[in-house]
Amino acid sequence: MAKSRTSFVCNECGGVQPKWIGKCPDCGAWDSLESFHEPAEAATVGTVAGVAMRAAPTTGDALGLLTGSVPINEVEQLEVPRIPTGLGELDRVLGGGLVPGSAILLGGEPGIGKSTVLLQAAASVVRGGGRVLYASSEESPQQIRLRADRLLGEGLPGAGDLYLQADTSLVRIVDEIRKVQPTVVVLDSIQMVHRLDLDAPPGSTTQIRRCCHDLVQAAKISGAAIVIVGHVTKEGQLAGPKLLEHVVDAVLAFEGDRDHGYRVLRAAKNRFGSTQEIGLFEMTDGGLRELDESGLAIDSTGPGVPGSVRTATIAGSRCLPVEVQALTATGFLGSAKRRATGLDSSRLAMLIAVLEKHGGQRLADQDVFAAVAGGARVVEPAADLAIAMAIAGAHHGRALPAGTVAIGEIGLTGALRNVRNLEQRLRELGRRGARQALVPAGGASKVGIPGLEVIGIESLGAAISHLS
Ligand code: TYD
Ligand code: MG
Repeated sequence: MAKSRTSFVCNECGGVQPKWIGKCPDCGAWDSLESFHEPAEAATVGTVAGVAMRAAPTTGDALGLLTGSVPINEVEQLEVPRIPTGLGELDRVLGGGLVPGSAILLGGEPGIGKSTVLLQAAASVVRGGGRVLYASSEESPQQIRLRADRLLGEGLPGAGDLYLQADTSLVRIVDEIRKVQPTVVVLDSIQMVHRLDLDAPPGSTTQIRRCCHDLVQAAKISGAAIVIVGHVTKEGQLAGPKLLEHVVDAVLAFEGDRDHGYRVLRAAKNRFGSTQEIGLFEMTDGGLRELDESGLAIDSTGPGVPGSVRTATIAGSRCLPVEVQALTATGFLGSAKRRATGLDSSRLAMLIAVLEKHGGQRLADQDVFAAVAGGARVVEPAADLAIAMAIAGAHHGRALPAGTVAIGEIGLTGALRNVRNLEQRLRELGRRGARQALVPAGGASKVGIPGLEVIGIESLGAAISHLS
């Protein structure tokens, strides 16, 4: 009889402690430790969740594990094989497709479209000749079938190789992986599966950790790529995803505003690719539609409006035009509100301080709201100038001339700093009708875009004088 041991795991960082303490020594969070039972001996390789697994005949372990150490240049170079998901935007974020034997966590708020994107990807994998096991612990096979019929319509792929399983028992799901030998497994979601031998309810830290560990093992042994869905709240709070980040090979976050159609897919961690790339989708009646830059409904031609400034942000290899908006309203001195949507709130606070000190703006008693239109997220300093101009414009009811865009990082001294890929940004904005661009003086002379007047600006104060 295996003896079990009680340990304590931090809900915030996933660190394990032998005894309960009020403050997690790893991340400093208070009252975040929760007890869980760990069996004394680790699961032997080849047995997952009590199910004997047979290694997949072809793939084995995609990571090629070593038993001893060898000099790095003697390590055989492994061409990591990929399974294209058929969704170009998803493949881009994954770094070229799913890697056999790997585990991917897809996190996002409920209702953002995780099940939809995975069902669409599952169907394309099947169309490409793969076999997919879609295990849902939240919906019945009928519900999934209904959605599949609606999403894929007549295109419901040769149907044969898309297997549905509606179950909350992890043991039965792992057993099904062994039987079906799929190339891709989708588990929707980790919060609703459980192992009966653990004395904890589904969704608890103990269950989530253990079930995820079993799935990662099952992926390694069977050679299937496993995509695990995890719900997170707006603050990324719920136990699951945060706890699991270090267990899986890649963590993808599906973001967007549920009230807007746009969805952005990002990689927070990726052992097989860059974390810079993003995938763009739009939620439509017929499921998620892939977007390229030209699909974004932002053009730079419109007349200037106070509080709205257009700029461009770089994400991985692509350049996205975005509109930054701001609103100021009289608040209370000493407790004025500062709210950022889609922007970094500490960056916003810093920009307000620079506007006060070097831009001649009195904002101490003003509530300041700043947002990126359309539910996008911009955390690059290159958007500083656009944010500051939007705030100053909103405050005075002044706007930039029609077709004018602003790009630049603002330092604490109020000086403008050059940004990377300035030319790429200006080219993209020029293509969308921008006729004039305010950019840091340091970069202005280096770029020449036909039809776009590039104005070099030294400081924030000089930029504000362009508002009229
Ligand atoms: P869903 O994939 O179920 O979200 P999640 O798995 O992340 O919880 O999709 C959620 C929402 O998307 C749902 O409320 C309705 C909307 N939706 C569409 O607008 N069009 C569609 O074709 C589908 C399938 C869903
Ligand atoms: Mg779902």
